Amino acid sequence: MTDMTLTIRRPDDWHVHFRDGAMLKAVAPHTAVQFGRAIVMPNLVPPVTTVKAASDYRERILAAVGEGVSFQPLMTCYLTDQAEADEIALGFEQGVFSAVKFYPAGATTNSDSGVTDIKKVYPVLERMQEIGMPLLVHGEVTDPTTDIFDREALYIERVLKPILNDFPTLKVVMEHITTKDAVDFVRSQADSGRLGATITPHHLVINRTDIFKGGINPHLYCLPIAKREVHRLALREAATSGEAQFFLGTDTAPHARHAKESGCGCAGIFSAMTALEIYTQVFDDEGALDKLEAFASLNGPAFYGMAPNEETVTLKRTDWSPQEFVTTEDGDPVRVFGSGETLAWKLV
Ligand code: NCD
Ligand code: ZN
Ligand code: ZN
Repeated sequence: MTDMTLTIRRPDDWHVHFRDGAMLKAVAPHTAVQFGRAIVMPNLVPPVTTVKAASDYRERILAAVGEGVSFQPLMTCYLTDQAEADEIALGFEQGVFSAVKFYPAGATTNSDSGVTDIKKVYPVLERMQEIGMPLLVHGEVTDPTTDIFDREALYIERVLKPILNDFPTLKVVMEHITTKDAVDFVRSQADSGRLGATITPHHLVINRTDIFKGGINPHLYCLPIAKREVHRLALREAATSGEAQFFLGTDTAPHARHAKESGCGCAGIFSAMTALEIYTQVFDDEGALDKLEAFASLNGPAFYGMAPNEETVTLKRTDWSPQEFVTTEDGDPVRVFGSGETLAWKLV
């Protein structure tokens, strides 16, 4: 078994944070090595809300990735209370925007400009439904009295179900799901073909206890926060099922080491260097390597109405240890998820 290899169609990453400037330059090439396309999150400061800002950002990403790499950034528009349906529809028609990202205000990193009341963006959602443009949601309620571990499950009841009811053909992706509740709900809507969910590598391998193992581990803090073991197991079962509604989205979210190892550490895990290897290991452990290609390379493009990549990638079963940090040109180290561990698969 030691020299086993696995070749699949080149995968895509349907949820990525590239940031900007020195951080963008340091992290984007790692995603471009592993993935053919990536849905790029718009939570910059200020957020990406116009067609112009998105096409300029796209150019900066391509410059960071460099010549000769076949990688396509797919841009998203950050939804605010003031969003204009015309601008969003124009960006979609021009092929600049692939989707709209809905952050409830205050839910996560750089979500301050997010939506304060869903009714305010109903005209935009109406237009998106009309033109077939997907809505990507960070699915957590923001009510500060709601326990952090309950925020995703409550979002389904309070926000997601009403959106799906009021917009019966709108395509929606519940991003980075972390609970059995989300798995069950997404599965219950499978027949509609219009509700998808991304699953990160970290939520497949850590639970909430890991965050506190031997002391507090800020590098395992992300939002939505990792949940109990029963939820991790449900996510593994869903990802490895091969079912069309579940697909790969790393939510790679780099923060400099000082921002993570701090009195008030930021949420986000940088997984771009090791994501595909960790996913592969999960599928191997679950005896489901035959389902990896569906999850990583087929289900996502099918949901977004795109063709799967023609190229392939090969992974080899071999032990290796990832480097601990990627360092930006400004000298900021970013911790690599999976470093300090031995991984069993490597992209060749
Ligand atoms: C993301 C970030 O840092 O931008 N953080 C995270 O913990 N996932 C934001 C997000 O995806 O919610
Ligand atoms: Zn999010
Ligand atoms: Zn994210």
